Amino acid sequence: MSSEAEFERAARILAEHGVTRAIDCAIVLGTGLGLLAEQVEDAVRIPYAAIPGFPSGAVSGHARQLCIGRLEGRTVLIFQGRAHYYEGGDPAAMRVPLGMLTALGSPPLILTNAAGSLRPELPPGSLVLVNDHINLNGPNPLIGDTGDGRFVPMVDAYDPALRERLKAAAGKAGLPLGEGVYMWFSGPSFETPAEIRMAQVLGADLVGMSTVPEVILARRQGLRVAAVSVVTNMGAGLHGGAPHHGETKDVASASGGELARLLRAFLRELADA
Ligand code: HPA
Repeated sequence: MSSEAEFERAARILAEHGVTRAIDCAIVLGTGLGLLAEQVEDAVRIPYAAIPGFPSGAVSGHARQLCIGRLEGRTVLIFQGRAHYYEGGDPAAMRVPLGMLTALGSPPLILTNAAGSLRPELPPGSLVLVNDHINLNGPNPLIGDTGDGRFVPMVDAYDPALRERLKAAAGKAGLPLGEGVYMWFSGPSFETPAEIRMAQVLGADLVGMSTVPEVILARRQGLRVAAVSVVTNMGAGLHGGAPHHGETKDVASASGGELARLLRAFLRELADA
């Protein structure tokens, strides 16, 4: 089956669940950042397990699902949970969920994640706009893809216009928004202090276990994409940095309200455009 046919098949499941409105914005919610999905009005919720090609399984006991509905007068499609590379070793695990967006009119895509910070001025609790990334992991979700379309340009992969809108939204909502380069580590173990020092030397501001393969997949499909990190901890070995999963989840949950405020302000910006 061609990718287009796979993406259209996934999109048809949404139509079968009564989703008929055009999607204005798609959002992937990262670890502990699910609050926004609880605020959606007129929500239609569809478990990933019901959609062919979507990643199966659950994380921390929560079923992964799509949540489609209204926020700030816009129609949003929220991916509640993502598949990570570390789960099954497949960097393209989010290929069909993200590709499906092309069959839904290619709405702007906002990725969110929990991340470690390498900069003291971006302490835990900070919201940070990702402006570029470093992939030294080796895997790339397009390995095995065919045709010239696989040679995806990555200059301005994080869409400049969407980034400006997010900055404007943060300004209007009175939320500080840092900016930085995100470096992808496979996980699931956290980095060593030596790896964190390496990441600093290489120019990273944030470290995390997601997002980068999704940005590559999204750009392969021509989607406009932006990413926002919620800093949950300092990188391993930095002052105060001894990350563990409990801390990631707790700090992410505590910051979920601020992220939700930023994304709602962004949706209002979209409406005003
Ligand atoms: N490293 C990698 N991934 C993370 C971290 C970290 O310090 N914090 C949250 N996700």
